Amino acid sequence: MENNDSTYDRNAEVKAFDESKSGVRGLIESGVTKIPRMFINPDQKFDINISTNDSNLSVPIIDLKDIHNNINRVEIISQVKDACKKWGFFQVINHGISVDVLDEMIDGIRRFHEQDVEVRKKIYTRDFIKKKIIYYSNSTLYKDKFALWRDTVGCSMAPDPPKPEELPQVFRDIMIEYSKKLMELGSTILELLSEALGLDPSYIKEMMCPESLFIQGHYSPPSPQPELTMGTTKHTDSSFITIVLQNHLGGLQVLHQNQWVTVPPVHGALVVNIGDLLQLITNDKFVSVYHRVVSSDKGIRISLANFFSNSDSSKVLGPIKELLSEENPPIYREISIAEFMAHHFNKGHDGNSILEPFKL
Ligand code: OGA
Ligand code: NI
Repeated sequence: MENNDSTYDRNAEVKAFDESKSGVRGLIESGVTKIPRMFINPDQKFDINISTNDSNLSVPIIDLKDIHNNINRVEIISQVKDACKKWGFFQVINHGISVDVLDEMIDGIRRFHEQDVEVRKKIYTRDFIKKKIIYYSNSTLYKDKFALWRDTVGCSMAPDPPKPEELPQVFRDIMIEYSKKLMELGSTILELLSEALGLDPSYIKEMMCPESLFIQGHYSPPSPQPELTMGTTKHTDSSFITIVLQNHLGGLQVLHQNQWVTVPPVHGALVVNIGDLLQLITNDKFVSVYHRVVSSDKGIRISLANFFSNSDSSKVLGPIKELLSEENPPIYREISIAEFMAHHFNKGHDGNSILEPFKL
């Protein structure tokens, strides 16, 4: 029966969901055919219809083939620069990670989320700080106005990776191989970004040292009412860069010139996006752009969001001196990563710009 407003106890519903320790997948397993109210945005109908159909607007695809050949590299760097200024997003192909590895990683995330509920319950947690492997649904569940239609397994793979035996057996081997390859690709992309800014190739990597890699494996079962739920609401990433792998279902959209533009799933490609910390150090030369994931009733959506950042929370960051001049004065003050992350978590998913309070 529908609850009316006077009797609806959202906190109780959220708590019961969290205490079930079995996520959105658990709701489907228990047979729900309608979206529980806690997942529905109380304030607005989603603006899904404003997604653009303009086929001239598409996130650039950059071919990294023969990147060590100087002529190709110059061209690739110019494409990267353009994409980072205009979109904050691009896809890469011929990036050095085989399609088999990507497909097997997606399948590993599926196997994880489809394990028996009793196995999942044992590792479900809200202790995001101490544990290297975390399974949960909605990181800011108790803060947000509505919950996202997705569950997540998170693995902290650098600088201090878990011991192999600490990784869930269902994706142990592939996670080790995938994250190793991903660190290499991350390094290549950071070099390209530095060069695109006219800096030494290792410049950003040095600012990120000790580099961290946090991998989130998201799983969204088909939503019975996709127009009422979101896979991920409008947000920017707090990382330096994020590399996203989405399965064939797609759903990722980027806010570009006030329109939501779909990032089409390209088999074997990876999506790269600029995070808030890179926007801060580049003094807005590269932009951290809003993105979101829409829900679907067509199948299971699986994605891996791989966040590259600096693991030293006492590290102080500000706009790169070499990029500043009289015409380009600093936009942001220097802040520690700890200060930045505290603001990020306190804020929750409210859709407002995260860098605003750090402006000079
Ligand atoms: C994220 C994110 C995109 C996706 O986790 O920050 O934007 O496709 N994910 O899952
Ligand atoms: Ni994101």
